[in-house]
Amino acid sequence: MTTHWQHWQLERDHEQLAWLTFNKAGESTNTLSKAVMEELSSVLDTLDQSPPKGLIIRSGKSAGFIAGADIGEFSALSNTDEAGALIRRGWELYNRLAKVPYTSVALVRGHCMGGGTELALACRVIVVVDQPSTKMALPEVLLGIIPGWGGMARLPHRVGAPAALDMMLTGKGINAKKAYAMGLADACVPPRVMDAAARMLALTPPSRKKLPFLTHCLTYPLKKLTAYQAKMQVAKRARFEHYPAPYAIIDCWAKHQGDPTARPGLVEMIAGGKSGNTARHLVRVFHLQDQLKQAGKPIEGMGTFEAKRVHVVGAGVMGGDIAAWCALSGMTVTLQDQDINRIAPAITRALTHFHRKYSRDALARRDVADRLIPDPTGSGIGQADVIIEAIVEDLPAKQALFADISRRAKPNAILASNTSSLKVEAIRSGMSEPERLVGIHFFNPVRKMPLVEIVAGEGTSAIAVNHAAQFVRAIDRLPLLVKSAPGFLVNAVLAPYMLEAMRMVDEGMAIADVDAAAVGFGMPMGPMELIDTVGLDVALAAGAQLTSAPTAPACLQARVDRGELGCKSGQGFYTWRDGKIVSTAKTSLGAQNKMAQALTSTHALMIDVINALLLQRDPPAQPPISAHSQALAKRLLHPLIARTQALVDLGIVASADLADAGVIFGTGFAPFRGGPLCYAKSENLNLA
Ligand code: NAI
Repeated sequence: MTTHWQHWQLERDHEQLAWLTFNKAGESTNTLSKAVMEELSSVLDTLDQSPPKGLIIRSGKSAGFIAGADIGEFSALSNTDEAGALIRRGWELYNRLAKVPYTSVALVRGHCMGGGTELALACRVIVVVDQPSTKMALPEVLLGIIPGWGGMARLPHRVGAPAALDMMLTGKGINAKKAYAMGLADACVPPRVMDAAARMLALTPPSRKKLPFLTHCLTYPLKKLTAYQAKMQVAKRARFEHYPAPYAIIDCWAKHQGDPTARPGLVEMIAGGKSGNTARHLVRVFHLQDQLKQAGKPIEGMGTFEAKRVHVVGAGVMGGDIAAWCALSGMTVTLQDQDINRIAPAITRALTHFHRKYSRDALARRDVADRLIPDPTGSGIGQADVIIEAIVEDLPAKQALFADISRRAKPNAILASNTSSLKVEAIRSGMSEPERLVGIHFFNPVRKMPLVEIVAGEGTSAIAVNHAAQFVRAIDRLPLLVKSAPGFLVNAVLAPYMLEAMRMVDEGMAIADVDAAAVGFGMPMGPMELIDTVGLDVALAAGAQLTSAPTAPACLQARVDRGELGCKSGQGFYTWRDGKIVSTAKTSLGAQNKMAQALTSTHALMIDVINALLLQRDPPAQPPISAHSQALAKRLLHPLIARTQALVDLGIVASADLADAGVIFGTGFAPFRGGPLCYAKSENLNLA
């Protein structure tokens, strides 16, 4: 017998098992909207009237189990009443599911996110299907919200508090095998036996694995200590006033048994307004990311572009890493440079990375290494679907190279330059079909920076641009379409920001204070550290090109004259060792022996124990950001924001939203502020 709702379908079989299939109407993925939740409640009413022996909840979508709550509904919340209703809706419904008198089984195949994982947690048994797409996660924190539908209450019981907090505070995904190993899932089965396994476990549910002794202690009797230490860890990465959600998650678990309706302030945090708009802005960033992805979709009439072979010319810092990244994305890559000796270091670097990434999977490691082929003569050019040039920033060299490449490349191949400062129009001058050349501008380090600028020159063909954007999506990067102009978007907005920082140093401000102001604002690192990272010589050249300053800042020029080029030379605005800034604290600690370090950490643990368990205290609050530091940050960021607006006005980037997206994903601009132009609007900044 089958009963249909709009989004759910309930079938009873001969063994008195009820199979509930979630297949959201009109959508390719399952998300938990108000209507879906109301229907689930009605399904439970129906089951109450004649309880089955067991209930198996599964997905009718090939894409996955459940992608989470409906973000569109969440974005439309306009007040605390609506936010409160949204939290209660899931919290109460899942509590009801958790209490049903029959065995409930969640059969998880493919993605299982947020509210989907919470639904699974409300079931008595979780079965995960062992396939690469299966991932369970509670990523709410990344949107500035909390797993309020029972995740905070149930996950720690299943996997223990340390692992549960790790999942909830990072939002990271857990694959099928790991989910089983950590106790999140009760069984991990191959796809072909998944229905049989779910049936068997519904009829004879397994007993729950016991938590190991230490994990048990940290979850129950020493709960306060675990919460205390988790807050200290969070405080190292995020300020409370910028990102309240992780703090709320820890509190809600430790003090309110994970009940979101019991913790004051949660509803306000989600609804936004006076108490901060972090959640709204992070949801905005989520939507902006989607907008960037849109640019990489095929456009009608331009065809779908599939890249199997990539050829990279120039095996330096950028070319080597671009080649390795493409190989990791499943493409066969040929890597060219002037001779084999110049290619070797890039291959060694790539192999080290592959080794780290696939430390336990020799087959995957071998496959990816096999896909990265040194090619000193450029024999891969004729077969490549994408050719990326990343040779030195020298116009005649690039012109000559493309004149040659355009003769040898396949007719439909993407021809791209990674140039950061030359005009596409100039580079293509010797090409037979100049309209084919497009800029594909990666950022350094390639594997960490999610944004890639796709640069269209005057007359660049729309197909070339769209195909380049499709390629960038295929290597899991976010394409931002920009017009050919000095510095495109990201470097163009960073240059006046760095200049302002160095002017402040020239005025006598301490380097560390300037950086602290930017970090206090929410930037991932200060501008002076950033200059050290990109190289002072590069900053000097970029400044001359991208700002109207008649002379370079004295603090920069003097260091470049002395050969102090930043991280790469060991000395810049800071002193560097092994890619890290050498601070006095670190140096003195480094000099201590291991025993002294062990004593220090034991001492720290004892202080935590006393504070958390005996004195029942919360960790000390972070010192507030001084008014002076806030004023410095305003001054520092103003040129960046004003330049972003100017580039939108000039049409270098198509909209204010895309400019915000580009600056967030290209520079790390404080995501909780929603982007530079969103921030300017909310602060009523005068950008004239
Ligand atoms: P690099 O100096 O590390 O590497 C350049 C490589 O190109 C060298 O190995 C050199 O031997 C090779 N090369 C020079 N002429 C060649 C030719 N005719 N044929 C084959 N190989 C040749 O340079 P890097 O930093 O990797 O920059 C490369 C390009 O990427 C430049 O256009 C630069 O503007 C751009 N870029 C650099 C970024 C960075 O942070 N370093 C960031 C984004 C773009």
